[in-house]
Amino acid sequence: MSFLKKIKDFDKKNTHLTYYAYHLGSTARWYSIWKPIFFNIDPETVHHLVVKVLKIFKPFFRFNHHKYHFYYNGKPDRRLEKKVFGIKFPNPVGLAAGFDKNAEIYQQMSDHGFGFIEIGTVTPKPQKGNPKKRIFRLTEDNALINRLGFNNDGVEKVVNRLKNNINVIIGGNIGKNKDTPNERAVDDYLICFDKLYDYVDYFTVNVSSPNTPNLRDLQNIDGLRSILIPLIDENKKRSNKPILLKISPDLDNSDILSIVDLIQELKIDGIITTNTTVSREKLKSDNQLKSEKGGLSGAPLRNRSTEVISLIHKYSKGTLPIIGVGGIMSVEDAIEKLNAGASLIQVYTGFIYNGPSFIYKINREIIKSLN
Ligand SMILES: Cc1cc2nc3c(=O)[nH]c(=O)nc-3n(C[C@H](O)[C@H](O)[C@H](O)COP(=O)(O)O)c2cc1C
Repeated sequence: MSFLKKIKDFDKKNTHLTYYAYHLGSTARWYSIWKPIFFNIDPETVHHLVVKVLKIFKPFFRFNHHKYHFYYNGKPDRRLEKKVFGIKFPNPVGLAAGFDKNAEIYQQMSDHGFGFIEIGTVTPKPQKGNPKKRIFRLTEDNALINRLGFNNDGVEKVVNRLKNNINVIIGGNIGKNKDTPNERAVDDYLICFDKLYDYVDYFTVNVSSPNTPNLRDLQNIDGLRSILIPLIDENKKRSNKPILLKISPDLDNSDILSIVDLIQELKIDGIITTNTTVSREKLKSDNQLKSEKGGLSGAPLRNRSTEVISLIHKYSKGTLPIIGVGGIMSVEDAIEKLNAGASLIQVYTGFIYNGPSFIYKINREIIKSLN
């Protein structure tokens, strides 16, 4: 019997014993010690370190599953379940794209309480991204700036890693290589779509990252048509996976509503609002830090992201599924996004600032709010 299988059996049989083991070995418990250490090291170095540790100790993080997911009489707590665009999510809190770009740690992140994991952004060819240093912590603002530029291992490697997935719900966030001109961008999206098709539960079309030159120009209606229609045609030939569009918070409201019209015309399945912003309004951090180029995430993004969710929810009369992301830094922020009309939510920066127990706390509050 493999070591992993032994742990899984133990995990199933000894709910109470393992519960105490989780407490002892819990990564969350130690985050107040780890955080000041992490926050003194370059953010990208910490990220790589964490990925390495999570990979090496993968079997041990299985213990976290029962601690961070809600069980009722030994079964997953159905009060958190949500069916959206045909997929049954165990809970509505997902890991936003960019954290597990290369699909290396989706199982471990799921064991930390996430209901689904969005991998990517993945491009057809591997690429290194922009020169380092390219992630900055704005601690005074509870924020990050990144200009990674779609650094990833390329779709082939990512697909190989996803072949090991047993039951984690995976979103495949797809993009184009930097050296592919916008006129041929659709080819890149189609390659990623085709290769990932059997290994993801839904797709996210990312045309909203500020770190690939001119990518966001594809958010105009003609640009969107040129990418979405071929993907929809390809999808129809196969089993029809949900396709979502991820948009920028920097679009005008009128442009956002035109995009919603297009989504409803083309009948794609949902929208992810929002990606990072290039705005630097009302930041407290020093000038040098806040003038770093890239996308800003975390607390300063919260209000705009929620505003966009409300706008779309009202305009579509609640008919368009929305994944709300941007600035969820507290449990209250998460509930605010759901109340604004998001069916599901995603977290990135809030996870960095609050640590692993954050996802558990959000889910606990969601259960409370149902009572
Ligand atoms: C370091 C970093 C890398 C990111 N990479 C991607 C990416 O590759 N693709 C994508 O669609 N969004 C990416 N994002 C954006 C997040 O998915 C999310 O939309 C954004 O950060 C707002 O959420 P947050 O405030 O919870 O971080 C990235 C964000 C960060 C901080």
